[in-house]
Amino acid sequence: MLPIKTLQKEHKVITKVLNALERLVSRIKLYQRIDVEILGKSIEFVKYFTDRCHYSKEEEVLFHEMQERGVSYDYGPLGVLVHEHEAGRAYIRQLEEGIKRWQEGEKEALEDIINSLANYVVLSKQHIEKENTVLYPMAEKMFNKKESKKLSAAFARFETQKAGKNVCCQYHYLADDIDRSILN
Ligand SMILES: [Fe+2]
Ligand SMILES: [Fe+2]
Repeated sequence: MLPIKTLQKEHKVITKVLNALERLVSRIKLYQRIDVEILGKSIEFVKYFTDRCHYSKEEEVLFHEMQERGVSYDYGPLGVLVHEHEAGRAYIRQLEEGIKRWQEGEKEALEDIINSLANYVVLSKQHIEKENTVLYPMAEKMFNKKESKKLSAAFARFETQKAGKNVCCQYHYLADDIDRSILN
């Protein structure tokens, strides 16, 4: 598969979970309580699939190769996109802290859980839109057939290194599970 197609396919899996999390935010607001199990599964998905499987391909392979071909990190889209990855990770850390406080009986933590989750969803959706419409079309024009093959091989290498061999594709099932668990 062409490297950019791989990333676009991963965006679809991530978006499925983001849509489910959007529904989860509404559900938490409505019932004023959280489901720790479903939040735990969602955090696992974000940490493993989104971060280790997807962001690592972008940060350590694609963005790096684009920089080598003259795309500026500081004055172009790359720096902004990496900053957004970091901001997403920070929201997830806030979410984990909020869940911990909630489990310790702090009711006020609910507001922080809602905010960190909602902010994460908005940020990630905008981020994906930017990559799909601006960065990926730019990247598709940048690599010839041979270079694309090298990129795909590097993606596979990083996947194994960051997440383990054949681990990433298994997270598609977790995305389906999360999607089914959070109904309207
Ligand atoms: Fe990204
Ligand atoms: Fe992406």
